[in-house]
Amino acid sequence: MILTVGNTKGGVGKTTLAVQLAISRAMAGRDVWLIDGDRQGTAAAAIAARSEAGRKPGIACAQYADGKELRGQVQQQRDKWQDIIIDAGGRDSTALRAALILSDVLLVPFAPRSYDVWALDDMASLVDEANSVRDGLRCFAVMNQADPGEHSADNAEAAAAVAEVPQFAYLPVPIRRRKAFSNAGGAGLAVAELAPRDPKACAELETLISSLFNIHTHS
Ligand SMILES: Nc1ncnc2c1ncn2[C@@H]1O[C@H](COP(=O)(O)OP(=O)(O)OP(=O)(O)O)[C@@H](O)[C@H]1O
Ligand SMILES: [Mg+2]
Repeated sequence: MILTVGNTKGGVGKTTLAVQLAISRAMAGRDVWLIDGDRQGTAAAAIAARSEAGRKPGIACAQYADGKELRGQVQQQRDKWQDIIIDAGGRDSTALRAALILSDVLLVPFAPRSYDVWALDDMASLVDEANSVRDGLRCFAVMNQADPGEHSADNAEAAAAVAEVPQFAYLPVPIRRRKAFSNAGGAGLAVAELAPRDPKACAELETLISSLFNIHTHS
């Protein structure tokens, strides 16, 4: 399946989650292609660090910040891969728009902060546009950098606000703010590969993966 991690808001964890999803799916035996759709090339840099460290499995990664190129390459190569994961970059871009046309699933990370929740309206408009020219895009919002406390009022408020946005289904599987996610991402590692292992980070990521990939039953 083709999954885009996208949000026009910057710094919400798109690259972090795209890299975690790509490596974890590859570790589970899937043929994965990670596409960095951001000029900044952060996801590509993480995968380059992984490759330099000689970590297996290696992750196939390409960078296409131009929407037309991204669309052309995905159309040409989609049958070669079981999972294509696109990090669409922060801000409205041709790459993000192309990704919304091609994807089966859109995952929109947001942090439990007011600005992040307001910014979802912008993504909702882009989803409306994509839905006007295609069918079947499934859109999920997931809280990332959630407050660690089990009973955080900020988490609860943000979740309730996002549940009101009709364009997105709120996935109740928050990823909390944990050093393991930032450390692993920078090194091009899945949290499961990081030593010492953070079992809570691993469990959160696994829960997100099973909800995302089991929802979409075709492949
Ligand atoms: N769950 C998390 N726990 C701890 N740190 C996190 C988590 N998610 C993201 N971060 C950190 O937050 C910062 C922003 O994350 P990231 O670069 O993934 O966001 P982004 O949405 O891709 O940003 P941009 O819009 O610039 O592309 C990074 O330093 C990353 O390590
Ligand atoms: Mg990024």
